[in-house]
Amino acid sequence: MKKLRSQEWYGRRDREGFMYRSWMKNQGWPHDLFDGRPIIGICNTWSELTPCNAHFREIAEFVKRGVWEAGGFPLEFPVMSLGETQLRPTAMLFRNLASMDVEESIRGNPVDGVVLLMGCDKTTPSLLMGAASCGLPTIGVSGGPMLSGKYRGHDVGSGTGLWQMSEQLRAGEMTEEDFFAAESCMHRSKGHCMTMGTASTMANMVEALGMSLPGNAAIPAVDARRNTLAQMTGRRIVQMVHEDLGIAKILTRQSFENAIRANAAIGGSTNAVIHLVAIAGRIGVPLCLDDFEQLGSELPCLVNLQPSGKYLMEDYFYAGGLPAVLRELGQARALNRDALTVNGKTIWENVTEAPCWNREVIHEFSTPFKPNAGITVLRGNLAPDGAVIKLSAASPHLLQHRGRAVVFENIEEFHARINDESLDIDETCVMVLKNCGPKGYPGMAEVGNMPLPPKLLRKGVTDMVRISDARMSGTAYGTVVLHVCPEAAAGGPLALVQSGDTISLDVKKRELRLEVEDNILAARRAKWTAQPLPERGWLRLYAKHVMQADKGADLDFLVGNSGAKVARDSH
Ligand code: FES
Repeated sequence: MKKLRSQEWYGRRDREGFMYRSWMKNQGWPHDLFDGRPIIGICNTWSELTPCNAHFREIAEFVKRGVWEAGGFPLEFPVMSLGETQLRPTAMLFRNLASMDVEESIRGNPVDGVVLLMGCDKTTPSLLMGAASCGLPTIGVSGGPMLSGKYRGHDVGSGTGLWQMSEQLRAGEMTEEDFFAAESCMHRSKGHCMTMGTASTMANMVEALGMSLPGNAAIPAVDARRNTLAQMTGRRIVQMVHEDLGIAKILTRQSFENAIRANAAIGGSTNAVIHLVAIAGRIGVPLCLDDFEQLGSELPCLVNLQPSGKYLMEDYFYAGGLPAVLRELGQARALNRDALTVNGKTIWENVTEAPCWNREVIHEFSTPFKPNAGITVLRGNLAPDGAVIKLSAASPHLLQHRGRAVVFENIEEFHARINDESLDIDETCVMVLKNCGPKGYPGMAEVGNMPLPPKLLRKGVTDMVRISDARMSGTAYGTVVLHVCPEAAAGGPLALVQSGDTISLDVKKRELRLEVEDNILAARRAKWTAQPLPERGWLRLYAKHVMQADKGADLDFLVGNSGAKVARDSH
């Protein structure tokens, strides 16, 4: 059997071996634990400032149970945790930083296999990216969604309910008292957002990629079966180390194609596009925007969950969860059935008998919830390197639209002007927001679903075409064109748009055009100047090296992987 990596530390009979073992023994570990059994790192994003992951110490204990049972030695370690609702200016600014923490924590320490504890939005991609750059056997465990929010007899979904109620408040249809009363009702249990937002989407992606045991995506955080899954994961990772089943054998082109299709079928977040491209970049799998267009855009949405539909993650779990969706895809030949998963079986072996208990929530492929509803990639002179729109969350009547641009140069200007009753705007206009991309914000915040002007809300307008280089919360909805590439701050054509210009969106033709003469655009370009780099620290490193959204917004020097070998491994 292959010598375990951890034995390069603990198997030594010299001064260094003494040092590696002796300091660990201050925790009370007996000597025989260093005898060559698999050491499993449990990479924990627990933090009280990441409320969605605040129960992860308990999950870690269940993973440890499983590791002990299988003859391994579990060691838990913390990594940077990104709380989507708490962290300013935006958690996305730190996804790549957290991934570096994960990568170096794994590579630099004596672990043979890793279990990733992930939940809140960015904690999933950052851990997968970091682990992908190391190559060890790895399994993911998601924290699970919260129970459904309940407010005065109705379901209220994380984020989605907030966007709806805040528009009602701004339109004068809801009192402030009622608005604040809803606050305690929306998030009433541990877990992550329970809409099909980015956290739920990414938990589905973990499972669709084959990176977790089946069922991982949907089990509610408070359901005892979440702990069972964690324990089974602990058992399995030890076996994976014995089998030398590294992450590169799971994260293949086949599995990414499955994830893209699954994202379409669940009505998943646009953020999955950026994260999947970034994860693929770390493992060396070629993946680009056109793959999302070709593989996913014409697939139907099968899952009736907010923000595209009605139900919540708890309902999804009771209906059968992702295995039921993958079974539909597999039967429709829209799944690479042979893709290997962490339990050693193919994805098709895992889901071939998966039941569905509620066809209101998970539809059959032949009678989908929404046809042709995947994420669609747009191009044209306004987005030469692409932009995306989530069709399942858009209004059909706006998918072919031509209108006058109302431009906001940055998010501050947007906030300063949007409530101004004299703002020259009507429902036929196209709202344009600049300088919110990876470099511009910086960090590519989730501000692309701009709230509508109050005077239009009062008229009953519920959607308008909105275009930006920003991202959008996975819980949001509307006819919102996102991730325009190149972004305004990188000198993309978006930087040249002015109020009064005409913009045409034609989703059928996959086109986004700025109807302005080339010579006028050239004159505007001559006057454009780039914003200065931040002075110091992470922001400076980030702004210098971040790539555009179509490349996953990773740092250019992090693409690829370095394996698990430590460059200089002794004192
Ligand atoms: Fe953490 Fe939504 S805020 S998952």
